[in-house]
Amino acid sequence: MEKRIITTEFTDEDSRIENSLRPKTLKDYIGQEQVKKTLRVYIEAAKSRGEPLDHVLLYGPPGLGKTTLAGIIANELGVNLRITTGPAIEHPGEMAAILNQMGEHDVLFIDEIHRLSRQVEEVLYSAMEDFAIDIVIGKGAAAKSIRLDLPHFTLVGATTRVGMLSAPLRDRFGVIDRLEFYRPAELAQIVKNSAAKLGVEIDEAGALEIAGRSRGTPRLANRLLKRVRDFAQVRFDGKITKEVADYTLTLLRVDKYGLDTMDQRVLRTIIEKFGGGPVGLETLAAAIGEDAGTIEDVCEPYLIQNGFLNRTPRGRVTTELACQHLGIPVPETTGQ
Ligand SMILES: Nc1ncnc2c1ncn2[C@@H]1O[C@H](COP(=O)(O)OP(=O)(O)OP(=O)(O)O)[C@@H](O)[C@H]1O
Ligand SMILES: [Mg+2]
Repeated sequence: MEKRIITTEFTDEDSRIENSLRPKTLKDYIGQEQVKKTLRVYIEAAKSRGEPLDHVLLYGPPGLGKTTLAGIIANELGVNLRITTGPAIEHPGEMAAILNQMGEHDVLFIDEIHRLSRQVEEVLYSAMEDFAIDIVIGKGAAAKSIRLDLPHFTLVGATTRVGMLSAPLRDRFGVIDRLEFYRPAELAQIVKNSAAKLGVEIDEAGALEIAGRSRGTPRLANRLLKRVRDFAQVRFDGKITKEVADYTLTLLRVDKYGLDTMDQRVLRTIIEKFGGGPVGLETLAAAIGEDAGTIEDVCEPYLIQNGFLNRTPRGRVTTELACQHLGIPVPETTGQ
């Protein structure tokens, strides 16, 4: 598959800018108002009682700010943050060691928490509930279990696949928050803040133009901003306007709705070759010459969420919006 600039997954390109653009406080974290409102109270309450914050589970699609929020939680609590990921912890002993080394009230962030192995996960059960773990020493009849007390820590877990989390683990989180896609006005604010940090001038219309094409995702907004900045400096006078943003993103083939050539090909094929559908995923994949899983996981969620495509029991169907957007007449069979 060709490399897609509009992917919301983390790429090498992001690694160079992401850390410097990450907001450090709740105040600078744009959007997600509901999540922020409750977190602010819980953080304040935990601090004033001198207790650790309840364990927090953050879930939602890639690039919406889960890792960022974990850092902010630690920062607002005024404690240390320790970062790890589910697949990195292979043995229960490693999990126990990490927990044992935490400071009182510190935050442990486990990214991709749905990828913890079952044995490692089991260590977390008593750790989260009782701040203690049971360690078995010796083998066979001589085996003894001793209880090890742990520091009172806060676990912040993040996942893009909350459905893959086991019920016992999920139930041990006191706070479970779903991050939502961002509205264009929120993304425009993020773009303006990032532009200020990058030291590039941008006007409101320029910020909105980038925001509108960013699939509701801050990571993508920042990535597109970086590209537009390059063009602003090399092809224009350095300032980002609507014209500069439009010029760059059109060149990168990211359209008004943030669809790229691959998304467009999916829609166009259904409309032109299959009369708007319904068409089965495998048939569609064969017609495009693309892997069915890629179409399903990478293209479809955004197309469906934004009303370009519907999934029906008989297959995929394009909507009128898709035809309008691509400038193709609506086939008579659409919607059947
Ligand atoms: N609410 C926000 N306000 C400002 N910037 C944000 C916000 N959320 C995310 N960002 C920006 O988007 C980038 C990506 O966010 P982050 O890495 O936290 O996403 P994520 O949800 O952890 O993604 P993944 O699922 O891939 O781990 C960050 O570098 C940050 O600059
Ligand atoms: Mg992350």
